[in-house]
Amino acid sequence: MRVAFVGKGGSGKTTLSALFARYTAHRGGPVVAVDADINQHLGMVLGVEEHALPRPMGSHLAEIKEFLRGENPRITSAAAMVKTTPPGRGSRLLRLPSADGPADDPVHTRFSVPTPEGPRLMVTGPFSEEDLGVACYHSKVGAVELYLNHLLDGPGEYVVVDMTAGADSFASGLFTRFDMTFLVAEPTRQGVGVYRQYRDYAADYEVPLAVVGNKVHGPDDVAFLREHVGDDLLVCLEHSAAVRAMEQGRPFTLDDLEPANARALGTLLAHVDAQEKDWERFGRQTVEFHLRNARAWANRAVGEDLAAQVDPEFVFGPTRVSLHG
Ligand SMILES: Nc1ncnc2c1ncn2[C@@H]1O[C@H](COP(=O)(O)OP(=O)(O)OP(=O)(O)O)[C@@H](O)[C@H]1O
Ligand SMILES: [Mg+2]
Repeated sequence: MRVAFVGKGGSGKTTLSALFARYTAHRGGPVVAVDADINQHLGMVLGVEEHALPRPMGSHLAEIKEFLRGENPRITSAAAMVKTTPPGRGSRLLRLPSADGPADDPVHTRFSVPTPEGPRLMVTGPFSEEDLGVACYHSKVGAVELYLNHLLDGPGEYVVVDMTAGADSFASGLFTRFDMTFLVAEPTRQGVGVYRQYRDYAADYEVPLAVVGNKVHGPDDVAFLREHVGDDLLVCLEHSAAVRAMEQGRPFTLDDLEPANARALGTLLAHVDAQEKDWERFGRQTVEFHLRNARAWANRAVGEDLAAQVDPEFVFGPTRVSLHG
């Protein structure tokens, strides 16, 4: 299952991504946490020292493409592969590494590291304003899209992506790649502002979305969120002294979390587990956004008609696919 945390800057995406990833890993599922935010902080919050961070995927796009395209005859070279290029017959598909075992494919081996609390960590690497926007051929966040497009994840396996709520993910279709998107919102007008934009995109593309209130101080805050977000409000996390202490560099385990906040993480996980995987939608939208991207810029950038990369016989999902190590 793929889970995205999106929301305004400072709303708590990174904090909640990390807490949710840790909580889920403690429940036993393999978890890969991916830092795809502009400000790369997820590793720090997961207890990974700067020098121990994984190689940034965004700086090794050619290598990742070269592996993923495998023997797919429709993708003539890594250079012809763009972030939206869908897998086809001959492409290499990825499985999540098991919770306690080593990774066994070059993408997870080279670009993920285990963290002290269980989740594995992958990062796009820091990106600048120029990395955002549809026309960016070398988009670092495109690495996450390629990764998710080639991933065969099942129930009880989790990818948690700490993401911006910005234009790049809407334009490329990355926002449609998730089984559940949690929009983190503080109980302020600005906090709920990004909700409407996201809700409208999500509704147009059948993207499951739920709002997670954060840094809530009491019933008035909950009522404010309820008023602006309605039934999309799934649960709220309180302003947490334990999180603050962690930010101040004090030791932190999930047991330090306030019981209400721990219960809220349980609600998030139950909500993810209740989603049914929709491989049909996933495949259809992967192709749809690729064709759109091809027309918008990628055909021009590569100098080929990239619609030819779509393999009409390829079936997305765990059925009838061949796995290549
Ligand atoms: N429930 C909470 N209780 C207390 N502090 C919190 C809570 N959630 C987040 N914070 C704090 O709020 C600040 C912003 O959180 P965080 O970095 O997770 O937000 P973000 O949305 O990832 O921000 P950015 O857009 O800068 O990446 C941090 O100092 C974090 O410790
Ligand atoms: Mg962040």
